[in-house]
Amino acid sequence: MAIAPKMQDALNAHLNQEFFASYLYLSMAAFCDTINLPGFANWMRVQSQEEHEHALKLFNFILDRDGQVTLAPIGQPQVEFDSALRVMETTLEHEQEVTTLINNLYRLAVEEGDYATQVQLQWFIAEQVEEEKIAKDIVEHLKMFGQAGEALMLMDRQLGARTAVPAPPA
Ligand code: FEO
Repeated sequence: MAIAPKMQDALNAHLNQEFFASYLYLSMAAFCDTINLPGFANWMRVQSQEEHEHALKLFNFILDRDGQVTLAPIGQPQVEFDSALRVMETTLEHEQEVTTLINNLYRLAVEEGDYATQVQLQWFIAEQVEEEKIAKDIVEHLKMFGQAGEALMLMDRQLGARTAVPAPPA
């Protein structure tokens, strides 16, 4: 069954949010690189790539449901941050906002009786639990062990080991 215009518009709006997240994390990658934290920069690059995949997942879903994809301009992300901790806190805050947006989308899908979109969004709901947990763990670790010296170097090395995961199924 073709997707209803109201649901299609809401998914297109969220598609833009996922592209913005990709942009935001790429901006953070650039910042981390400039403050000589290549591991943090690597983590952010991979994060940016994952957000791009999330956007494509919605892109494909709208098309599969005979909907129309509308790509809107992507907002300018923040460029400067106070510290590596602030970068990770901003990441956590951003993921919490995205969770709220996805919950709102799910609520709309329920109201519209759109079961296919509900199933699609369940993947995103589970993904948000994971994304919030990872960001929160890094924030807590930085607060607990310090944001300078050996502790920061070790965290940078750990984040440098993150590799891209295969794209999620469409
Ligand atoms: Fe695509 Fe980080 O949520």
